[in-house]
Amino acid sequence: MSRILIEHGTVVTASGTVAADVLVEGEKIAALLQEGTGYPSGGEGLDRIDATGKLVVPGGIDVHTHMEMPFGGSFSSDTFATGTEAAAWGGTTTIVDFAIQPRGGSARQGLETWMSRAEGQCAIDYGFHLILSDVTDEVLEEMQGLVRDGITSYKLFMAYPGVFYSDDGQILRVMQTAAACGATVMMHAENGIAIDVLVRQALEAGQRDPRMHGETRPSALEGEATHRAIILAQVAGCPLYIVHLSAAEALAEVVQARDRGQAVSAETCPQYLFLDESLMAEPDFEGAKYVCSPPIRAEAHRRALWQGIQTGDLSVVATDHCPFCFKGQKELGRGDFTKIPNGLPVVEHRMDLIYQGVVSGRITPERWVELTSTAPARLFGMYPQKGTLLPGADADLVIYDPSRSHDLGAATHHMAVDYSVFEGLSITGAVDTVISRGTVLLSNGVYRGHPNHGRFVPRNRYSGPAIPTGVPGTGRS
Ligand code: URP
Ligand code: ZN
Ligand code: ZN
Repeated sequence: MSRILIEHGTVVTASGTVAADVLVEGEKIAALLQEGTGYPSGGEGLDRIDATGKLVVPGGIDVHTHMEMPFGGSFSSDTFATGTEAAAWGGTTTIVDFAIQPRGGSARQGLETWMSRAEGQCAIDYGFHLILSDVTDEVLEEMQGLVRDGITSYKLFMAYPGVFYSDDGQILRVMQTAAACGATVMMHAENGIAIDVLVRQALEAGQRDPRMHGETRPSALEGEATHRAIILAQVAGCPLYIVHLSAAEALAEVVQARDRGQAVSAETCPQYLFLDESLMAEPDFEGAKYVCSPPIRAEAHRRALWQGIQTGDLSVVATDHCPFCFKGQKELGRGDFTKIPNGLPVVEHRMDLIYQGVVSGRITPERWVELTSTAPARLFGMYPQKGTLLPGADADLVIYDPSRSHDLGAATHHMAVDYSVFEGLSITGAVDTVISRGTVLLSNGVYRGHPNHGRFVPRNRYSGPAIPTGVPGTGRS
């Protein structure tokens, strides 16, 4: 069995910071030792890593990625192989990607397709949520068995009519089923029916540039959909997770629901914390590089989101990594913004970007770990196997150097995409070493991972905050 002792570092978890050595045996954390204790029984076969001056944190967990995702006749440009390697470079050791139920097909069929894409390809561990794109009686019946197989979260769309869209009745039925089998519903909360009207009107008026993507998806329609999703979840008594929250109005709905004790949580993504809507108006079709849904928004929304991160009303930062190359993919939308594939390349930069919140004093190092690792593990049934450095947990670790700086950009990133939305952004801090289940994937700038290392992670049922019972308006008594 391999043994690694990570010495002289500062161990940061969501619950505190301590000077300690971390002992890894095989694939697991064996112990946190008082600094300088040395190895308990001699030291044969022991690899030592000196983490002096560095932070030792649980590996990042990104619960929102789309590798090889079909969209508008194209596929997102990162495969499971390239995308998970890029994630590892950035200190993420687990992703949860989205399998998609084909319209007219079964949910199990969707899962099997994505499982076969990922198997033997992933540099890091991976799990799946399921996108339900065609809610039928048969699909509801399938959910129980899928939950037993570790697929404990289901994404629905209030956007994209005719593609992924579910109506309120379908949403309610999935939520009732999820409540009964211990699953979580994840919601893409934008009012797609209203958005489609605005889109048609824009096209009829000859407004076809990328910036119209943002103008036809106003924040109020994200707020409205978030409200509706929350009420439907309340009626069903189902835990709800709002994905890629970008708007102050949507956050206000989440805050209200949480304040009355409802099991609602939300994630935001680095693009909504760092990028301004004006980027979508860049000339020569460059604005297409920033097209994602919901769209990146104005400064006031970013301020609200950072506040939500500080107050705890936003629980998770994931990436919604869904890259499309500018050449040949984003370009499909020249002359018609509705044809621009939606999504941005982010998976490699999440840990660095959110660490800037520590650098600026907005959040503590513990909160950084909580947002990027511990909370996602807890909310999606992976804790304490992942998301912590407790003895017995998977030895997924990052040694992070707070004193190194680097700039982000397409020339140096590892994502399979020909541009960066964070081009030239200066980062204080850098990933130094990445360990996944006891295997060193990255050290001293040398990548040593391989695509056959990552394993499928079956996830447990929802065990987050209690679902209120006996609350008027809920289906639960
Ligand atoms: O623009 C985005 N977000 N693309 C990925 C699909 C989704 O809705 O998450
Ligand atoms: Zn979405
Ligand atoms: Zn997504």
